Amino acid sequence: MTIAVRAAGVNPADVKRREGAFGTSGALPQAMGPEAAGVVTALGEGVTRFALGDAVLGGPARGRGAFAGHTVLRASDAALLPEGVPFEVAATLPVAGTTSFDLVHHLDLAPGASVLVLGAGGGVGHLVLQIAAARGLSAVGVASASKRTLIEGTGARFVPSGASAPAAARALLPTGADLLIDLVGGEPLRALAPLAASPDSLVSAADEAAASALGGSGRRRRDDALAGIVALVASGQVTPQIVDTYPLARATEAIARVEAGHLGGKIVILP
Ligand SMILES: NC(=O)c1ccc[n+]([C@@H]2O[C@H](COP(=O)([O-])OP(=O)(O)OC[C@H]3O[C@@H](n4cnc5c(N)ncnc54)[C@H](OP(=O)(O)O)[C@@H]3O)[C@@H](O)[C@H]2O)c1
Repeated sequence: MTIAVRAAGVNPADVKRREGAFGTSGALPQAMGPEAAGVVTALGEGVTRFALGDAVLGGPARGRGAFAGHTVLRASDAALLPEGVPFEVAATLPVAGTTSFDLVHHLDLAPGASVLVLGAGGGVGHLVLQIAAARGLSAVGVASASKRTLIEGTGARFVPSGASAPAAARALLPTGADLLIDLVGGEPLRALAPLAASPDSLVSAADEAAASALGGSGRRRRDDALAGIVALVASGQVTPQIVDTYPLARATEAIARVEAGHLGGKIVILP
């Protein structure tokens, strides 16, 4: 179905796509923007779950992008926007939201279990902490010092990132973390990995190769992730943090903000 885009989330994936990290064989120019929210303007054959004029969110179909006036969503990858959820909030859910949901549910943890999050103050990490809180999990977030208030505002305990992070996390989690969620990868992940209660309790959205080498794995996609995160946002249990918005004409600046990193939430483009 075609939508008139009302808001589009910006992700590190946009930077990676531009750098060729997802392959360089496709024809150029390539559409960018993996997260969209908007209003249905045309329906494909056989689409019955949605109607013209519905407010929806989802990830654009292969070859399409959300940084546009209109885009195309696969109906099977879309959801209705619940009343009261603004378009710019909805536009943070198809990628960052579903990733967070998948990661927190990587293991079937009981309330009270511990979750250690590396990169806890970013677009995905901040949602991870809120979902963990909604599930009654005990979260510890590793982030730069300036993000202490942001992390603690979710109910999580805070550990400053850097060389002291593994020891500081160990002091809070003497028997290790039931689930270690990584959003950074590389050396910071390798340094923190011994905190995972067992190797398979490590999952990474940022560095699947490193996670696998350590006995863990990459993100496992769940069919219920989009509906799950939409329900958590609609009920007010999860509130995506929007750091800034940009008009479509300034999309390059929006992407540059994400590329510079260290944001405390999401950047959204409003066409
Ligand atoms: N596999 C998937 O489907 C999928 C989906 C979504 C995202 N991802 C990936 O997941 C990662 C996180 O995405 P995001 O949207 O949350 O990105 P983001 O908003 O840029 O957040 C990344 C966080 O990493 C932290 N960080 C950067 N360098 C660090 C270091 N050396 N030590 C400790 N922390 C460091 C930053 O925290 P501070 O500011 O506190 O330093 C930042 O908050 C990205 O690699 C992204 O591509 C994968």
